[in-house]
This record gives sequence, C-alpha cells and structure tokens, in this order.
Amino acid sequence: MLKDLFIGLSQNEFLNSAAKKYGLKLGAQSVVAGTNLDEAIQSIKELNAHGISCTVDNLGEFVYKKEEAAEAKKQIIEVIEAIHENQVDAHISLKPSQLGLDIDFSFCLENVREIVERASHYGIFVNMDMEDSKRLQPSFDILDELSKEYNNIGTVIQAYFLSAEEDLMKYKDFRLRIVKGAYKEPEEIAYQDKSDIDANFIKLIEWHLLNGKFTSIATHDHKVINHIKDFVRANNIPKEKFEFQMLYGFRKDMQLKLAGEGYNFCTYVPFGNDWYGYFMRRLAERPQNLNLVAKQVFTK
Ligand code: FDA
Repeated sequence: MLKDLFIGLSQNEFLNSAAKKYGLKLGAQSVVAGTNLDEAIQSIKELNAHGISCTVDNLGEFVYKKEEAAEAKKQIIEVIEAIHENQVDAHISLKPSQLGLDIDFSFCLENVREIVERASHYGIFVNMDMEDSKRLQPSFDILDELSKEYNNIGTVIQAYFLSAEEDLMKYKDFRLRIVKGAYKEPEEIAYQDKSDIDANFIKLIEWHLLNGKFTSIATHDHKVINHIKDFVRANNIPKEKFEFQMLYGFRKDMQLKLAGEGYNFCTYVPFGNDWYGYFMRRLAERPQNLNLVAKQVFTK
C-alpha cells in the first residue's frame, strides 16, 4: 500500500540526510514555509494578516547525535526570539526526537526545559508534538516533569491509540491538540479502521470541549469540522475555548473561510532543511498529495 511505502520512506535515514543537502524538492515547497527563519517569519506575517495564528515547527526528528539535538534546541530558541522581536501571533511546536529523546532522556528533558523556559519568559506557548508509540510514554514523562514548573506547555492526543481516552483523562487540565494520528501502529495498540479512528477522534474532541479546557482541533476533514461547528453551537461552547488547526499549504481556502467566519484558526508552519520525513508522512496520509508533487515537478 502507498501509505506503508511512504511511512517506510519517511524513516529512511539515508534519504533523510540526502534531502537535507538539496533544499526543498519533490514539491515540498508547497507544504513547507521555506528553509530559513526569515522565510518562515514572512509566511507567519502573511497568515496573521488574514487573522490566522501559527504554530511553528523548525523541522527535524529522529536525531541520533547530541550536537545535532543541541543545534536544534538553539534554532528553536532563535525562533522564539524572532516571534517576540517581530511580535507575530505564533507559538512553538517541537518533536522530542529532534531534541535527543532517542539519545538520552535526561539530555532531551533539559533541552526541552531550556526551550520552555525561554518561551515562558515571553508568554509563548510550546506544544510538544506526539510521534510514534515508542516515543509516547517518554514524551508524556517530559510533559509531567516540565508541567510541575511551567504552564506554557501542552501536547497532542492521537485518537488512533486505544489508550487515547485514558491519556486524555490524565491530561484533561492541559491545553491539548487532538489529531487522528500520523504514524503506522500495530492493531494491538491502535485502531486501524478509518471509521473507528474518526469516531474516537470526535468523541475525544467533544469530551475535551465540554471539559472546558482549550482544544486545538487539528484536521483537514470537513466532515469532522462541520460536526464540531454544530456541536459547539448546540452546547454553547465559546469560540475562545477552541481553535481549528491545519497544516501549512493544505486546504488554504478552507483555512481562510474558517478564520473569516470568526473561528480561531491556527496554521501549523513547518520550515527548515529537515523536511523529508514530514513531507513523506503527508504523502502517506493522502496519496492525492502526490498531485502537489506532480504540479511542482511539471510546472518547473
Ligand atoms: P484525513 O486524512 O483522515 O482525511 C479525511 C477527509 O478529509 C478526506 O477523505 C478528504 O475528504 C478530506 N481531506 C483531507 N485532506 C484534504 C486535503 N488536503 N484536501 C482536500 N480534502 C482533504 N499527527 C501526529 O501523529 N502527531 C502530531 O503531533 C500531529 N500534529 C498535527 C498538527 C496539525 C495542525 C495537523 C493538521 C495534523 C497533525 N497530525 C499529527 C497529523 C494527523 O494525525 C493526521 O495524520 C492528519 O491530519 C490527516 O488526518 P485528517 O484529520 O487531516 O484527515
């Protein structure tokens, strides 16, 4: 299946490091907001001008060298400084594996701590993206540790996990992004059928909305979005209590429409050289995204 092929490719170390050397290729430029911070800030300003806030991902994952993880930390802190200096409406998304989770837990924890500390100085929120099941518990452990000291950190609940509801209950007091889940997981721990994933996704979103904590509903699925619009109306959930999120470059018309309708809208803005794994997962989720690739390749 194409999905499995692209998920496999997303974790191919050789292709990943080759891609870093060659700038944005294969159509990635339509879904990645540039290779450097200036380009990313420019994209954020353009989105802000449409009333859209941003969560910024300085791309990177599956780092196995301490120097690379330290460099990633430094770059994310530069993003925080740039958000502050430019006074743009944006916060941070980061991946623990980019900051050394696969090297050493304490090392990673300290890297994330430095980032959260810097961000808290400016009142900037930090979202910890969730990766595959191997990294799930250690990522929650980081959240547990840092939330003792800081209140500007939150995370993601992936609805395809059988344990997602339990995790949601545990983290019910946090600002949470709820997603369907992007990695390939075995049936022992994750729903495989789209209908089961969608049903759990909606259930978790509704639960967290009713619970009254801020909910980021991260999806491109118009059926889910329309359902949630009806749900919040029927349950008098104020617009300040939630936002819709989509990835940069996807369903741009719908992003503008939702923002124009007065919903809080946040675009996930990835940028940087380490675009390969991110881009392959987008192809895995929706093989039609190959159209983006074809367009870029053939309009050159
Ligand atoms: P899905 O792919 O199930 O599509 C449902 C339907 O929506 C499609 O059948 C189609 O009709 C329509 N549709 C979808 N995309 C479309 C498009 N581009 N154009 C037109 N129609 C389209 N995952 C993770 O594991 N950890 C994380 O931290 C995150 N973080 C994250 C942040 C944000 C902002 C987003 C949007 C997503 C994530 N994800 C994630 C990814 C998430 O788990 C999931 O893999 C993708 O969002 C794909 O699922 P969707 O809910 O978007 O719809």
